[in-house]
Amino acid sequence: MILKVVKYPEPVLSQPGEPVTEFNAELRKFVDDLFETTYASQGIGLAAPQVGVSKRITVIDLSMGKNPKDKLVLINPEVIFSEGKLYEEEGCLSFPEIREKVVRAAKVRIRAQDLHGKWFEMDGGELMSRCMQHEIDHLDGMLFIFRMSALKRDLVQRKIRKLQRDGTW
Ligand code: NI
Repeated sequence: MILKVVKYPEPVLSQPGEPVTEFNAELRKFVDDLFETTYASQGIGLAAPQVGVSKRITVIDLSMGKNPKDKLVLINPEVIFSEGKLYEEEGCLSFPEIREKVVRAAKVRIRAQDLHGKWFEMDGGELMSRCMQHEIDHLDGMLFIFRMSALKRDLVQRKIRKLQRDGTW
């Protein structure tokens, strides 16, 4: 089922998500829906708060549905190690049409639970590292515009207000 993706400044996007404690069929169905919604939106990742569910669940698929082995489910994830810096363009499904450069760690190691509740660690570099940090930020109620310089954030917020006035946001 394709879920509705909420846009900034929907309050749920700024709330820290609740930890997941039950690894059941309901969770598996929700994760399937998150993937379906990501593909329908042509994204590479989506976090539960973006569909109005304040829980620590996110999905990533850099192949955008082309390679089933690339489907990554992160439950209760956290960054446990990071190094380097990269300054690259980034987008977010809750900010349609907005793309801006954001500083991120070049490499990260994350720790997360899978759909069965089993903990695992995984390293990410380049785009995967950026995507992991962006999605884990969502679970902390942190949005990418607050990783931008104040000047850029101001420009983006002005653009959003204009789109809202035009009725296209
Ligand atoms: Ni996002």
